[in-house]
Amino acid sequence: MANFAVAKTNDVKPGQMKSFAVNGKRVLIANWEGTFFATQDLCTHDNGTLADGELVDGEIECPRHGGRFDLKTGAVTALPPMFPIKTFPVKTEGDHIVVALE
Ligand code: FES
Repeated sequence: MANFAVAKTNDVKPGQMKSFAVNGKRVLIANWEGTFFATQDLCTHDNGTLADGELVDGEIECPRHGGRFDLKTGAVTALPPMFPIKTFPVKTEGDHIVVALE
């Protein structure tokens, strides 16, 4: 695992999620009620980006077919996806959002 400063805390406002390129991967940073979460930015259903979807009740809703994933665990909470998304440890250091990636 290595830590990467992905964005600044004010880049992702509460209720927002954005995609960032980190070490050759797309990482989704979500701000749910002031807490940051990090996941892969790739839906396991049909490889769509999740960044243009919605944050609903602590879940990511995919913009393509409405599949949902739990922000904390990456577990599928609404079909059609069959497989979870990866989640990554995230913390803030000063005004930076820092994500640990493999
Ligand atoms: S690509 Fe995400 S639900 Fe289909």
